[in-house]
Amino acid sequence: MPRARSSPETWTSSGVDLHLSLDLTTRPRHGLEESLREAIRAGRLPVGTRLPSSRALAADLEIARGTVVEAYAQLTAEGWIVSRPRSGTAVAGAGPTPASRASAPSHVDTSVTFDLRPADCDLSTFPRSAWAAASRRALSRAPNHAFGYGDPRGWIELRQELSAYLGRTRGVRTDPDHIVITTGFAQGLGITARALAAIGSLRLAMEDPCLPYHRNIARSAGLRLVPVEVDADGVDVAAIRRRRPTAAMVAPARQFPLGVCLSPPRRTELLAWARARDGYVIEDDYDGEFRYDRQPAGALQGMDPEHVVYTGTTSKTLAPGLRLGWLAVPHRLLDAVINEKHLADGQTTTLTQIAMTELIRSGAYDRHIRRMRLHYRRRRDILRHELASRAPHVRVDGIAAGFSVALTLPDGWAERDVVAEAAKRGIAVHAMTGDGYYAGAAQARPARLVVSYATPPEHAYRDAVTALAESLAAPPPRGGDSSSPA
Ligand SMILES: Cc1ncc(COP(=O)(O)O)c(C=O)c1O
Repeated sequence: MPRARSSPETWTSSGVDLHLSLDLTTRPRHGLEESLREAIRAGRLPVGTRLPSSRALAADLEIARGTVVEAYAQLTAEGWIVSRPRSGTAVAGAGPTPASRASAPSHVDTSVTFDLRPADCDLSTFPRSAWAAASRRALSRAPNHAFGYGDPRGWIELRQELSAYLGRTRGVRTDPDHIVITTGFAQGLGITARALAAIGSLRLAMEDPCLPYHRNIARSAGLRLVPVEVDADGVDVAAIRRRRPTAAMVAPARQFPLGVCLSPPRRTELLAWARARDGYVIEDDYDGEFRYDRQPAGALQGMDPEHVVYTGTTSKTLAPGLRLGWLAVPHRLLDAVINEKHLADGQTTTLTQIAMTELIRSGAYDRHIRRMRLHYRRRRDILRHELASRAPHVRVDGIAAGFSVALTLPDGWAERDVVAEAAKRGIAVHAMTGDGYYAGAAQARPARLVVSYATPPEHAYRDAVTALAESLAAPPPRGGDSSSPA
């Protein structure tokens, strides 16, 4: 058991004198975490500083080794430190990353114990060995011209692998000539939006709610945005027809953040609109690989490749830091999209592309996705069970796929109060209205939270979910006006 201590005191450890001021009076793990964060933030522990082993530090502090292990795991998850086999634990280079581009904080919020805001996938599961092996193979096989300027569409072998892979797994109908490799969905959207602007297609319907970052990208490309409501069947296609956009962006497999799947009749209706209008649909297939309860919903693009710009990304399957994604582009729009990609950055990094080619070719990408599907489904089941038993009055949507859910709160509960109540327990979640997911004018909407279950470290996952469910067990104390009256 950790020993109670008087505070604060300084401590050192074998070989490494860390000079930390440490309060272990009440919660040793939190005290240790906070003093390490503070020392790194203040620059007293510069990048690369080796930290003592958990055993040595626990002995110095006379606390349980498990406490140090947990503190190190938490700081690793937050990005302050890194652990490498055989070289121990050290202060990380980049520091923590913002939890979400939807509301990227300009500072590190050290009061957050469990960050359930949607952004990253589970970064601890990145297939390091498979990626390293793929990179090694790719480098030894790559011809010299792989290191030069190349086709703006990307590395031909990756485009070949992808056209087969996307056909097999998502029902996409394309060929290597019509694939453009991007640095992720964000770039795919940006260059498609610019290509649309270039051909005079200037009014883009976007689902409302959606990620505010994506609205900003489309707007900065010069498009006029037309927000369109989403119901249980997906985007309201009749509203699209009425409001006369020239293109529409949708996430048919799993709308974000509401989590609904575009129904078969709406798919047909949306494509009929695109054909009649001679317009385009931008399909955001960001997490189509992760469906748990029934057959994956295939890509919309497979039903009409000439009216759908398909977009895929590795941000959910591998890691957003890779910055790697792809487009399958209708023939008529291809030149305009290639031109915008060329203007944006010439081409996507070839080294990443050749490693990805090997990852797919070797079967390691399929294996990783299968493993991750089980991983997230297990997490999803724990979340569902905890919410059903501790907060049955909360409606959970989007649970069949992906790794975020939309929680609808009972009448009379205010988003802001619920977020504040969760924060008291160290949990960060997003409020659907309060965090800017809606573009439309403020109106009475149900209070909703957006919660991701991808990121808490494995050892802390159950605690995170239990703490969330407990914070939703009873109406929160009222804290003033709400942005989302029920
Ligand atoms: C709705 C949606 N689409 C796409 C993405 C992937 O974006 P990118 O590939 O730019 O990382 C995300 C990531 O958070 C997302 O939330």
